[in-house]
Amino acid sequence: MQLSTLPGRPLTGRIRVPGDKSVSHRALMFNGLARGTARVEGLLDALDVRATMRCMRQLGATIEPDGDAWLVTGCGGELSEPDDVLDCGNSGTSMRLLTGLIAGQEVFAVLNGDEHLRKRPMARVTRPLSTMGARFWTRMEGRAPIAVQGGALTATAYTSPIASAQVKSALILATLGAERGELVFREPHRSRDHSERMLRAMGVTIDERDGVLYVPAGQVPLARDVVVPGDISSAAFFLVAASIVPGSDLVVENVGLNPTRDGVLEVLGAMGADITVENPRDASGEPVADLHVRHVGLRGTTIGGAVIPRLIDEVPALAVAAAFAQGVTTITDAAELRVKETDRISAVVDGLASCGVDVAEQPDGMTIGGGHFAGGRIDARGDHRIAMSFLVAGCAAGGVTIPDASNVATSFPTFASLLEGARV
Ligand code: S3P
Repeated sequence: MQLSTLPGRPLTGRIRVPGDKSVSHRALMFNGLARGTARVEGLLDALDVRATMRCMRQLGATIEPDGDAWLVTGCGGELSEPDDVLDCGNSGTSMRLLTGLIAGQEVFAVLNGDEHLRKRPMARVTRPLSTMGARFWTRMEGRAPIAVQGGALTATAYTSPIASAQVKSALILATLGAERGELVFREPHRSRDHSERMLRAMGVTIDERDGVLYVPAGQVPLARDVVVPGDISSAAFFLVAASIVPGSDLVVENVGLNPTRDGVLEVLGAMGADITVENPRDASGEPVADLHVRHVGLRGTTIGGAVIPRLIDEVPALAVAAAFAQGVTTITDAAELRVKETDRISAVVDGLASCGVDVAEQPDGMTIGGGHFAGGRIDARGDHRIAMSFLVAGCAAGGVTIPDASNVATSFPTFASLLEGARV
């Protein structure tokens, strides 16, 4: 599917972005494991979350529509052995979290994914899970397909070399099914904490002292209703679009503002963006608000260090904002981008360079000189966030065509219609 944008029309009015992808995966997995039935409202309807839904059904959860919501009946802490391969599609969150979930259970399963997911590193979860006693058979360097024989685990201490909520969540899920021990989890910076929030609300003990997590083995969550907030990672495309398209004045309603996810607001603020947080409230233990954004001239900034895990999925959109800012933006400490759905450093740098932007690639980031964007045809390399970021840029100058934008459906199937509807 080809998608194009043309410059000129400002973004106005009020929009709602779909449900948070991270929270949606967790609402299905955790309630699918739990004792009881929960109602999940605002679930993201996108390919990645459908993959998790399919896999959880194969593992014994019952997931049925209930009007616009979903009823999830868990398997009471004991998954069933799936009778076929678990297909995670393009979704790294599905594959890594399910690997941890299955490792804690007396179950044999095989996980596979699409051509992009099969290239992504899975040893970051299989290695620590192996030290707990799970057995894995994988391709070279832990790549999928992955076969897991779970069960009889001992929870242990693990210090992750990377700040990753997927690694953290996989270990927590394995620990819930473990027979003995305690998980003591450390990471260099705090990664998103949706798992901790949701599991605590489901009665699971997760202690935290001085940034270290402690999770005792052998716990079964109790089903808990979830209202999924709007996804700040999807909202980010509209925050950037309204900031860089002259005349824009847009409200993005009901956006999740978890402090481990809101780095994009901090950085856009440092770039001079005009964004106000309105009507702050709570949705199932997650902070939520409406974001009012108006066009303004942006300036370059530096992005690095502890803020990176808080905006890792928003770097492509922020790079587009930088291309329209006055001055230089430097992005460092973001080497993780090289192992996302595609190498996002290389994809952003090549895309911006082909649109005439003064950009330089570094091993862990990039330097972007703002002020000139000519537009053009961009190869999104099958990556949803690369496609959406460049389509946003095309709204502000030059026009952009993405010849294959079909992967937008992995996280945000309604992106193009929402963008079109917001432009007068
Ligand atoms: C996610 C964690 C992040 C993020 C991904 C979703 C999650 O990945 O990039 O889109 O839901 O746990 P890492 O854990 O690899 O940092």
